[in-house]
Amino acid sequence: MRTVDLIQRKRDGGELDAGEISHLVEGYTRGEIPDYQMSAFLMAVFFAGMTDREVSTMTDCMIRSGETVDLSGVKGIKVDKHSTGGVGDKTSMIVAPLAAAAGVVVPMMSGRALGHTGGTLDKLESIPGFRTDLTVEQATAQLHELGLVFIGQSERVAPADGKLYALRDVTATVESIALIASSIMSKKLAEGVDALVLDVKVGSGAFIKKQVDARRLAQMMVGIGRRVDKRVQALITDMNQPLGYAVGNALEVMEVSQTLMNQGPSDLTRLSLELTARMIFLAKLAPTLEDARHVAENKLVDGSGYRKFKQVIQAQGGNPKALDEFVLLPNATGMREITSPRAGYISAITAEDIGRASTLMGAGRNRKEDRIDPAVGVILEVKVGEKVDAGSVLCRLYYTNEEHVEEASELVEGAFRVSSQKAEDRELILEVVG
Ligand code: URA
Repeated sequence: MRTVDLIQRKRDGGELDAGEISHLVEGYTRGEIPDYQMSAFLMAVFFAGMTDREVSTMTDCMIRSGETVDLSGVKGIKVDKHSTGGVGDKTSMIVAPLAAAAGVVVPMMSGRALGHTGGTLDKLESIPGFRTDLTVEQATAQLHELGLVFIGQSERVAPADGKLYALRDVTATVESIALIASSIMSKKLAEGVDALVLDVKVGSGAFIKKQVDARRLAQMMVGIGRRVDKRVQALITDMNQPLGYAVGNALEVMEVSQTLMNQGPSDLTRLSLELTARMIFLAKLAPTLEDARHVAENKLVDGSGYRKFKQVIQAQGGNPKALDEFVLLPNATGMREITSPRAGYISAITAEDIGRASTLMGAGRNRKEDRIDPAVGVILEVKVGEKVDAGSVLCRLYYTNEEHVEEASELVEGAFRVSSQKAEDRELILEVVG
């Protein structure tokens, strides 16, 4: 089988069979298919799409690229949560400890920054000492002890996703329903969960811009889960402005800390509580979703989610004091304010541009081997619907190196729209699928 023929067939809109998809996924994971051919294949998928059968096969091949973790020895229903990616989307670091504090067993397998969006692993690693490269045995032991572990896909678990994810990040091939669905579902099914809550983001800061496409992605992932008897529920949520105020790795950890102390932004708190409630409900720890919502809220208000996060940070080698003393986190050396050119109401904040600006300053990668700068990012001062005066601060850029600050400032300035009329409030949670 010649790889070039498969690329050509996909490019021309053809369907690949199981043997052909497995040739591509296995060959690439083993290093036999080079980056340039896989990049071409991914771009062909980006334009031509994949049938449901191809996506299922691709997911299976990615799961089989490594081992499937057997968590049957850990008592309790294992539930994870995953987002399709957004700007300022830090809910995993809030939801996982809240759910674990309520008794859900959470093997959380997260990703790194992708395109203009941040990744939970990069954010966690901004906490000094925090390690996400645990072995399967270490992760399982921590799950027994604390009911929560944060890990990344590894050489052993879904290695194909690790390699494809890094390649998609730097080849402009992230925004494909087929590739997102197979990426997320392969690692989630390989980690041995019983149930999964998905946050499918839609809007300017998401990879999926239209609700109809978000619905198709959600249905595809719910379907993949159902075929292997896993309960999967997806919320479709608005990503037309950053979630919360902070964008950038360490900056987001600070906002997580405030949110777990019940002093966080209302949109972030609301979405985190709803995702947590769904996890509690799927774990059968509450008889109704309404009861699960009460449990989630209690775990926030009584501080047990915050304490659980600190325990997990300690267990994974990090310094839990960093949640109280932000000077212990990486801090930027420079700051620039962006101000409003006129008075009015904020009618839009293009989240993708805020994410791009943050990536440009070092919060994400331009090449696979790039290192993240954990200190940099953007903190919004306003959200959509708020009134501003001419000269009001819209946001602050935090950087450690001047090189891209000018370009980042221009992007951010263009991201804010100020209108004379107040925009209608947008719903945060748009739909539930599954
Ligand atoms: N999250 C993932 O794990 N994969 C994607 O492709 C997008 C978001």
